[in-house]
Amino acid sequence: MKPTVRIVEVGPRDGLQNETATIATADKIALIDRLSATGLTSIEATSFVSPKWVPQLADAADVYAGIARRPGVHYPVLVPNEQGYERARAVGVEEIAVFTAASEAFNRRNINASIDESLARFAPVMARAAADGVRVRGYVSTVLGCPYQRDVPLADVVRVASALREMGCYEVSLGDTIGVGTPGKARAMLKAVASEVPVEHLAVHFHDTYGQALANVLACLEEGVAVVDAAVSGTGGCPYAKGASGNVATEDVVYMLHGLGLHTGVDLPALADTGRWLAALLGRESGSKVGRALATA
Ligand code: HMG
Ligand code: MG
Repeated sequence: MKPTVRIVEVGPRDGLQNETATIATADKIALIDRLSATGLTSIEATSFVSPKWVPQLADAADVYAGIARRPGVHYPVLVPNEQGYERARAVGVEEIAVFTAASEAFNRRNINASIDESLARFAPVMARAAADGVRVRGYVSTVLGCPYQRDVPLADVVRVASALREMGCYEVSLGDTIGVGTPGKARAMLKAVASEVPVEHLAVHFHDTYGQALANVLACLEEGVAVVDAAVSGTGGCPYAKGASGNVATEDVVYMLHGLGLHTGVDLPALADTGRWLAALLGRESGSKVGRALATA
């Protein structure tokens, strides 16, 4: 395992896109600022998708403009097309994430495009990002299963991940969107992708629907992955993925990594405080077992 692991905190985006309650823009900003104070260096702040498709993040521009940008912290945002790119750049975004899937059926529902159409849509975004010095991360969803077509051939995962890397994504995050993976399958998927895209350019993104996310993270760490996506308080899910539940909780990942003797740079008690603060805001118990345990320890 690599001695240092970078966490990509996706709670403000993956977490809040899936909440039914309206969350005030000021609270979203407070969440991001609290997270950046914990030592996290990558915080996915919001999403410049169509507000008709994801009304929860319609305030993306105000959120981004309101955060106190901390030196050394990256604040990527989701961008599906050139329109999103322009909205993001208008408020000074310096890193974006484009997203597609290994499953045609899911992609159609999520972004109303086939896989190849989505890649074609990214091409002008990538060109503008390169010219503007904007870093681009890429996501492949449904890498271990799809709610609409069920099995997703590994060859499709490899093909889409390679395409994103070849287009210029500095990192490709492999998403188990509906959290159906188990460690053996996660490891095999990772190994297949790593045969085409060097593992230094890969990240993993596990939803925890079946309680397998931490075990899946560990299997991928053992294969050399050193970047893990997670959401504080275990929030998250995709509104267009039937059956998707929360992401693996950042607190739980950090606790495991520190227990393995790996370095994250994250202040776990401060992170757990933020997770409980968010849970209170959302009117429920924290989705992080570590967050709950630390509250009473
Ligand atoms: P469409 O309806 O095919 O596109 O949506 P369109 O170009 O026909 O646009 C429709 C309307 O949206 C138009 O407005 C556009 O102007 C507007 P109208 O003319 O009707 O008034 N529009 C936009 N407005 C603001 N910003 C934009 C934008 N684009 C179009 N960027 C589209 C195609 C891709 C836009 C849509 O399907 C979409 O926004 N989908 C996003 C879905 C989404 O955000 N899903 C969740 C994120 S993915 C995820 O969670 C998985 C991940 O976590 C990894 C994992 O877990 O696997 C990343
Ligand atoms: Mg996700």
